[in-house]
Amino acid sequence: MPDWRRSTRIDVTAGDLRSLVSPNPAVALGVPALQSDDGPQSPPGLSTVALPGELGIDGSQLAVPGRLASLRGFAGKAGETLVVTEGDGPIVVHVGCGRIEALTTDVLRRAAAALVRAAGRRGRACFVLPASLVAALPTGPAEHPPLPPPARRASQALTEGAVLASYRYTAYRSHDEDGGQIEAMVIVSADLEPEILAEGVRRGEVVADAVCFARDLVNEPPSSMTPRVLAAAAQDYLADGAGVQLEVWDEDRIRSERLGGLLGVARGSAEPPRLLIACYEPADPVEVSGRVPHVALVGKGITFDSGGLSLKTPDGMVTMKTDMSGAAAVMAAVGACGRLGVRVRVTAIAPVTENMPGGRAQKPGDVLTIRNGRTIEVLNTDAEGRLVLADGLSLAVERDPDVVLDLATLTGAAVVALGRTIAGVFANDDAVLSRLQQAADQAGERIWALPLAQEYVPDIDSDVADMKNVGKAGQAGSIVAALLLEQFVAGVPWAHLDIAGPARSDESTGVLTKGGTGFGVRTVVEFLERLSSDPLPARQR
Ligand code: BES
Ligand code: MN
Ligand code: ZN
Repeated sequence: MPDWRRSTRIDVTAGDLRSLVSPNPAVALGVPALQSDDGPQSPPGLSTVALPGELGIDGSQLAVPGRLASLRGFAGKAGETLVVTEGDGPIVVHVGCGRIEALTTDVLRRAAAALVRAAGRRGRACFVLPASLVAALPTGPAEHPPLPPPARRASQALTEGAVLASYRYTAYRSHDEDGGQIEAMVIVSADLEPEILAEGVRRGEVVADAVCFARDLVNEPPSSMTPRVLAAAAQDYLADGAGVQLEVWDEDRIRSERLGGLLGVARGSAEPPRLLIACYEPADPVEVSGRVPHVALVGKGITFDSGGLSLKTPDGMVTMKTDMSGAAAVMAAVGACGRLGVRVRVTAIAPVTENMPGGRAQKPGDVLTIRNGRTIEVLNTDAEGRLVLADGLSLAVERDPDVVLDLATLTGAAVVALGRTIAGVFANDDAVLSRLQQAADQAGERIWALPLAQEYVPDIDSDVADMKNVGKAGQAGSIVAALLLEQFVAGVPWAHLDIAGPARSDESTGVLTKGGTGFGVRTVVEFLERLSSDPLPARQR
């Protein structure tokens, strides 16, 4: 079995700048810069930061050098950097944080990512965090309970940004192309409480670790990340995950549980399918009307999507190891719950299989019976995600959740509509949708609502079964897929994220690295954390 966690990334701590700079002071010192009508400005309070003598830099030298900034066209916009180098000693990196009135935690996340990228071969960085910047973070809407202390949110976001930007999938590289290894970042501040900063760093590492786990699973080549290996990897990751029990169903169990969608897709493959169910029970649950809120997560786990007999083109198949990103994201998210003290119950379900055109493969025209008894005529074997999710969603609603979220690289049409950075979101419940949107905003992931247009339901009417798995060619592909999923949620409040675009990145930029992105993990984790302190009213049963 391959060692499936062979990526590298930075180690983040709060406060200890001395051990970062000794014995080698050649570090990157990142200082925030704000955009203003009078050009880029340093936030107040920088000069009070105590810098070790070895650096040869004192606080007064941290202000933005105005002439150099205008020469290089540095305005202090979010994500911009201005690097000041003298010899081979430390460098000062002015990190744009945009306008102070527009500051958010996501700006800080991107600022840390920009610093790590600018640090390059120095490999070690320090982010100077003045209290004046932290004080400018938004406090959240008054009708909701207060957000965690801003210093904690800031250090969490900085940690996430640094770890995610430094992620490198090195498993199959015989030598490190970048030369230098990215090692460490320290967050220093003159006047913020070290315990609060440290707690933010800890939480940021938990979240980033979950995202990197999802990335590792996606980046692993498809023939070594088979359903069985994915199950073993989840087992491994969830083993010390505080309060999570993982159940793995093999093919016999999947058959006896009547998961006809998953079995149908798996038929063409030499690799047996798996069904993963991970249950998180909070140690300190929140209660609403005498019940602990329960969230079910469902993730599409196609470890390779060849299209099946409705075979994809060579180009269309190139990135199809990414097609288990939903499964990776839900397993990653449930694994973070314990370490973040999430106070709601979470059940994460992932149907996992290859979609291959083997001799026993399902054929266009076949009819499958899904777990909940409904039948689907398969007219295109490449529309396989909805078939396995139909089983996953049926299982989820049997467990009587208050909310169901599914994540799936479901349709190429979502990429056409929204491109590579934005996920489509569909929901049958406005409260869930707005909570999810808020969580995504906070997490720095882009999602955009698309309509569950009921007038297209007849598009999936079948001549022989309850429904067919495709609609009209070239029309509303993402909506039709979502409408099919809706047939399996039994009216439970539900949202579906079509992550076909953002699950993968073509470039290394900001917090993303080329390849799997782990998209959705941060949004789901944020959603669960917010439900813990601000639960939804109990749903009518
Ligand atoms: N996994 C694909 C969707 C996909 C495409 C994800 C491109 C990421 C990038 C999915 O299984 C699929 O093949 N969908 C078909 C559905 C069609 C046959 C109705 C599609 O989108 O073409
Ligand atoms: Mn497909
Ligand atoms: Zn697929």
